[in-house]
Amino acid sequence: MAMNGFVVALVMFMVVNFAEGGDDLDAGASFIFGDSLVDAGNNNYLPTLSRANIKPNGIDFKASGGNPTGRYTNGRTIGDIVGEELGQSHYAVPFLAPNSTGKTILYGVNYASGGGGIMNATGRIFVNRLSMDIQIDYFNITRKQIDKLLGANQARDYIMKKSIFSITVGSNDFLNNYLLPVLSIGARISESPDAFVDDLINHLRGQLTRLYRLDARKFIVGNVGPIGCIPYQKTINQLNEDECVGLPNKLALQYNDRLKDLLTQLNENLPGATFVHANVYALVMELITNYAQYGFTTASRACCGNGGQFAGIIPCGPTSSMCSDRDKHVFWDPYHPSEAANVIIAKQLLDGETKYVSPINLRQLRDL
Ligand SMILES: *[C@@H]1O[C@H](CO)[C@@H](O)[C@H](O)[C@H]1NC(C)=O
Ligand SMILES: *[C@@H]1O[C@H](CO)[C@@H](O)[C@H](O)[C@H]1NC(C)=O
Ligand SMILES: *[C@@H]1O[C@H](CO)[C@@H](O)[C@H](O)[C@H]1NC(C)=O
Repeated sequence: MAMNGFVVALVMFMVVNFAEGGDDLDAGASFIFGDSLVDAGNNNYLPTLSRANIKPNGIDFKASGGNPTGRYTNGRTIGDIVGEELGQSHYAVPFLAPNSTGKTILYGVNYASGGGGIMNATGRIFVNRLSMDIQIDYFNITRKQIDKLLGANQARDYIMKKSIFSITVGSNDFLNNYLLPVLSIGARISESPDAFVDDLINHLRGQLTRLYRLDARKFIVGNVGPIGCIPYQKTINQLNEDECVGLPNKLALQYNDRLKDLLTQLNENLPGATFVHANVYALVMELITNYAQYGFTTASRACCGNGGQFAGIIPCGPTSSMCSDRDKHVFWDPYHPSEAANVIIAKQLLDGETKYVSPINLRQLRDL
């Protein structure tokens, strides 16, 4: 009797699950590219010095029961939150995870990698990471797998109409390339900021165009945040609470200006494509400036980290000190926002006004 009940329950579970599987595809997929701000675990599978699959990272991530997953924050990334809000029932799986095969990839794949950048040379200090060129090579592999799963016509339709391509990249091209004197002294001596930004924009144009050639049509591209205001920069430069380092922010703004123009051009030049500009800089700066209004107690001190006045030198790990009020900190660690900050940023990208997300917001992009 008990056994029969179990079998019936199991069969019903499978039927329900299968039925849900059908509906799930209607909600579409996220294909996520970029750096540690959105890495969901790819670096776990690389021999690299940039890793987040150590405690207490992930302590608030419900899907893993608080265990680390490779996400560089205490909970969900912006990519996770956006996927949930758009009705996708699965988080985009890390491309490099061995079980990211079969139907799973139809719900979205994450190619992002801690330390990665637009340029191949970016993040060399970590020994290994996936740069944008390689992330797109990997999407080219996924693209062929989707053809096999759905057939060429339906696959093309699914990628063009039901899939959102999010790109969150650029910070490392400054923090772990241009601004690193040891490794890129050549580049910095031979290239002015203007020339370097030019190089970044040209490479990114090529990368976004490659994704377009692989049938991507709905894009959201984030600009570079105020990287002069992260706890790491504030600590090593021994700043006060309300100060930020000038040069990194200046470079970010210079790049961001050019990015906005690039996306306008691509909207005009690539038929059928929509490139949404996510003003991450303005969003994060708003949180940093008016943190108390959003319920935070600090925007300068990392919740998890060690060293200096803002716990901003040594990355978050088992021996770090950790704050008790994790949702009261804008920054989880010396570099990355907390889940609480990610929730506010994601909500603005989904439903926000044009000063943060333009020409349309993410929900409108999905419904195109
Ligand atoms: C893949 O493996 C990871 C790690 O074991 C697990 O957390 C995840 O749920 C698995 N994903 C799928 C789709 O099976
Ligand atoms: C970067 O590396 C990729 C993969 O190895 C390669 O295809 C690409 O040409 C490289 N880009 C540059 C600018 O060197
Ligand atoms: C995708 O891969 C194929 C080889 O399998 C190659 O011919 C093609 O140029 C690639 N497409 C892009 C956009 O990188």
